[in-house]
Amino acid sequence: MSTKVLVTGANGQLAKTLKNLFLSNSDNIEFTFLDKSELDISIKDDLASYFNKHNYDYCVNCAAYTNVDQAEIAPDLAYKVNAEAVKHLAQYCEKTKTILIHISTDYVFDGTKKEPYLEGDTTNPINEYGKSKLLGETYIQEILKDYFIIRSSWLYSTYGKNFVKTIISKIKEGDKLNITTSQKGTPTSCLDLSKFIYSLIKTKENKFGIYNFSALGEATWYSFVICISKHFKNYSKTNILPVESYDSNVIRPINSVLNNDKAQAVFNNINNWERSVNEVVVKLLKK
Ligand SMILES: NC(=O)c1ccc[n+]([C@@H]2O[C@H](COP(=O)([O-])OP(=O)(O)OC[C@H]3O[C@@H](n4cnc5c(N)ncnc54)[C@H](OP(=O)(O)O)[C@@H]3O)[C@@H](O)[C@H]2O)c1
Repeated sequence: MSTKVLVTGANGQLAKTLKNLFLSNSDNIEFTFLDKSELDISIKDDLASYFNKHNYDYCVNCAAYTNVDQAEIAPDLAYKVNAEAVKHLAQYCEKTKTILIHISTDYVFDGTKKEPYLEGDTTNPINEYGKSKLLGETYIQEILKDYFIIRSSWLYSTYGKNFVKTIISKIKEGDKLNITTSQKGTPTSCLDLSKFIYSLIKTKENKFGIYNFSALGEATWYSFVICISKHFKNYSKTNILPVESYDSNVIRPINSVLNNDKAQAVFNNINNWERSVNEVVVKLLKK
């Protein structure tokens, strides 16, 4: 019998990466990808009628409200999608005995720790996006026993709108860039995260719980941009100005580096962040 997997939020960068890699596979894993127009997870009745008609072994929830700046101004939608909808999704997973693989964020932490964050460290989100994502996690833990919550960080890919693509287009325009040196974290490729998600499904080890998953090493936004800029020989590094911080309505954690040891114990294929950034930039420049 094949393993049946539902993926929500199919138009997002993570879901598109998963789809491109694993829609066809030789492991007898059958994926169904649904975008917001096909399954809006914030409409409880739609979730109910969908889960009444279909049965899955796993649900990978890639649907989320990810506009961190906008969440600060108008948080209602962030809570609706990242918390209330996740609660309902967890309830239907519980009813149908579906294992939920939910993607969460480094922004559940306040960033005051000096070392990389462990899964069990105290959460204390400092912006509305982080608070809405943490509430989603809390509901899952209250409702389900069989779940994976994967906290990732600074995601980018060849799809959609993301930091790497924005910086590449600014460099191509010859723009000067003011980039902060004051926040550290780990840029993580959706490709690497997709491989981890796939491995959880494939191995069926089902050691449930919370996992940090990012690439290895740590960066600042400034070193992240320097890494991208190395692919542009005619663009001078002097165009990239290190700054302390940006004018922003959102507070972001100063340190959001995640300790990956728990993920590495079940998945031994994690790349250094620079290697993965280089691979994605090369792919984007070939497009
Ligand atoms: N991006 C990052 O840096 C980052 C870092 C750490 C963790 N994460 C987490 O990683 C996960 C994947 O992020 P991503 O970067 O792939 O985000 P993304 O590209 O913004 O994708 C999210 C997708 O969810 C869809 N969506 C929004 N509301 C929905 C709803 N009510 N029902 C169904 N789909 C809905 C969005 O559709 P519309 O665009 O049409 O609204 C979008 O296609 C999220 O849980 C995010 O919180 C992201």
